[in-house]
Amino acid sequence: MTTTKRKSLSRYLIEEQRVHNNMPADLRLLIEIIARACKHISFSVSKGLLDDVLGNAGTDNVQGEAQKKLDVLTNELFLEANEWGGNLAAMASEEMEHIYEIPNRFPKGEYLLVYDPLDGSSNIDINVTVGTIFSVLKKPESSHNVSNQDFFQKGCQQVAAGYAIYGPQTQLVLTTGRGVHSFTLDTQLGSWIQTQEDMQIPETTAEFAINSSNYRYWEKPMQRYYDELIAGETGPLQKNYNMRWVAAMVAEVHRILNRGGIFMYPTDSRTPGRAGKLRLMYEANPMSMIVEQAGGAATDGITRILDIQPTSLHERVAVFMGSKQEVERVTSYHKEAQ
Ligand code: AHG
Ligand code: MN
Ligand code: MN
Ligand code: MN
Repeated sequence: MTTTKRKSLSRYLIEEQRVHNNMPADLRLLIEIIARACKHISFSVSKGLLDDVLGNAGTDNVQGEAQKKLDVLTNELFLEANEWGGNLAAMASEEMEHIYEIPNRFPKGEYLLVYDPLDGSSNIDINVTVGTIFSVLKKPESSHNVSNQDFFQKGCQQVAAGYAIYGPQTQLVLTTGRGVHSFTLDTQLGSWIQTQEDMQIPETTAEFAINSSNYRYWEKPMQRYYDELIAGETGPLQKNYNMRWVAAMVAEVHRILNRGGIFMYPTDSRTPGRAGKLRLMYEANPMSMIVEQAGGAATDGITRILDIQPTSLHERVAVFMGSKQEVERVTSYHKEAQ
């Protein structure tokens, strides 16, 4: 099919509003603006050394990570692109310690935007895939002055979630609660064009993604599952698995959406409680909504991620997501060991 016969993101959103009654007009406009911000980020990351945007910024973020110049730049870009639209009350980002209230010079709206402006930022200096992850929440009706508390909503309350992946092509993968749809950026038209409809993750898989250099820090059930995966057909799982690792959650989950698999970032004896590396609000929740909407599953080893009650902005969580059967297996190992 040629591009002209395909549906644009704008048309998809308008049909969601008009035909399927699944989208208030202000949410549609918000998603259009987010998509425009992702387009901007896509052009910015593609410049690389030409624009001197690679390397470290020389600062640390609240997560204790050394910020890349592009972590800072994309965060600002996302703020500037989204603050004037009139549909948001506030934003929260992996790269900002505090929430960002929409300044009084702009009209305010009913939504909260939560985002990881650049996921997989260690890949940026080597020209390998990175992404942007976002989650949209409705501001609680009882809230007048927006505060952190308004953001502490379970993932199942997200009204939309998505990511942009900056790979060989730039793609936007979106859910508003009626399946997962993907749009490719046509750089000549400057528009997002729908290229996949209702993406589905196969229930079974023979592919996994994990940073196994952390093996010695994992809990016993995780070590058990990993041992079984690499034992292949001679082990209890009786099949050979393949391992893939891009070091960017967006890329990992995108591959899984397209061909099945399980992505894991388990808890680690170096982190307090059962926390993992990934952030609940900026990474785990939006990706879990997408994975579930595509027929997959997502847990922290015990609990469905979308049922976790956040208690702080930057809290971390262990993540197991992807093909249902494998997520259920590794989750059952954790539950047995409780
Ligand atoms: P971010 O770049 O937003 O900080 O996130 C990076 C995350 C995630 O994308 C990826 O799965 C993980 O960090 C990889 O980390 P390690 O290579 O340190 O395991
Ligand atoms: Mn980071
Ligand atoms: Mn990230
Ligand atoms: Mn990031």
